[in-house]
Amino acid sequence: METPMNPWSSQQTDDIEKLFSLFGIEPIGTVEGILPEVPPFISRGVVVGHRDYRAIAGAIRDGKPFHILTGFMPSGHPHLGHLMVMKEVVWHVRQGGSGYITIADREAHAVREVPWQRCDEFGREYLQCLYALGYEGHTYFQSRNNVLKDLAFEASTRVNFSELQAIYGLSDETSLAHAGSVITQVADILFPQVDSYPAPTIVPVGIDQDPHMRLTRGIAHKLRMFTVEERDGYISVRSKNAPEEALEEVHRRFPGSRKYQGHVDIPRANCAEVSDEARKIEIIHGGYGFYTPSSTYHRFIPGLQGGKMSSSVPESTITFSEPDHVVRGKVMGAFTGGRATLAEQRELGGEPDRCPVFQLNLFHMVDDDSELAEIYRNCKEGELMCGQCKKETADRVLAFIRDFREKMEASAHLVKVE
Ligand code: TRP
Ligand code: SF4
Repeated sequence: METPMNPWSSQQTDDIEKLFSLFGIEPIGTVEGILPEVPPFISRGVVVGHRDYRAIAGAIRDGKPFHILTGFMPSGHPHLGHLMVMKEVVWHVRQGGSGYITIADREAHAVREVPWQRCDEFGREYLQCLYALGYEGHTYFQSRNNVLKDLAFEASTRVNFSELQAIYGLSDETSLAHAGSVITQVADILFPQVDSYPAPTIVPVGIDQDPHMRLTRGIAHKLRMFTVEERDGYISVRSKNAPEEALEEVHRRFPGSRKYQGHVDIPRANCAEVSDEARKIEIIHGGYGFYTPSSTYHRFIPGLQGGKMSSSVPESTITFSEPDHVVRGKVMGAFTGGRATLAEQRELGGEPDRCPVFQLNLFHMVDDDSELAEIYRNCKEGELMCGQCKKETADRVLAFIRDFREKMEASAHLVKVE
């Protein structure tokens, strides 16, 4: 049974594991053995789940092409909470991925009623942050990308309202533009394969975006001309809506194959090899040849006040344009995993696992694993008090932000609003 999940609600889902098993998301640990180098966002438990990440880990290991795409909705200033997924993108680009960033201005305008000009301003800031982190690759604004819009239209031929209803639980009051922004996101996720070439694509997102992944994976499949299935002793290439010549070509390409009405059976063949050939033939005949996109799911950095980190709650987060004293004030005023009294904390130790200050260090402020482990240990042993810890963290945050601001300025010229 599918429970609608709402990507536009502001609630955080705490019970991640239950959701995972409900929706068939795998724990990320299952791919660690494939990756030549395990990135910090995995080893530190920030990225927790995936769909089909094996295809990406394998591409990284074998030096094969893959795309990495994610998107940002320009409904406010970017802040600390957005950096993690940006780092994940930059890491994948360094591993050989071709990078794509979409600024979801259509979504911001349709769902959050953000005026277009504000979308441009915020979008520009997001891109500046990405470049400050070392991003290299494509960027675009949804509203200005005509190939994307055509792709969204094509994708819309494969969805009906009852499916949207089942996946998103949209109500009768939902505007058509809202549904339009959903199909635009589907097009975003498939766009790299149209803009460059079909290849596995990794889409790092928060768990709230999984409905979009499920919808897109279904549509990617429906837009294929062929499905390739492994049977007992043979591979069956089945036409869904392939032109007759395309199926004929599959038959010719594999001597010894047998052609039937709507499918070609190939005895003793290798499934991966047949899939590759079928894809090539599909593309020659005007098809998309999509690989079903993969995704990773990260947990969110907690807000400084303990709830969600969001630009609509200024105390919960830090943006990159606030004065130093405000930044320091926010860290010093943060919720912690500390005890009611110093004496109690010395005796029982703090609780770093549920402490936003510790999470801030884990996500962004302490790169060195042994230094982070030291903070964790000292907290748990009751040797580190929250006042001291917050002061040290504030110093790190300020150093980080100053440096980051400089980098944002230095990379402003790279931003293109197009
Ligand atoms: N819906 C996403 C958000 O709310 C933004 C987004 C648009 C996106 N297109 C995307 C995310 C494609 C990942 C992939 O933040
Ligand atoms: Fe959090 Fe630091 Fe206090 Fe531990 S000592 S609970 S990590 S603020």
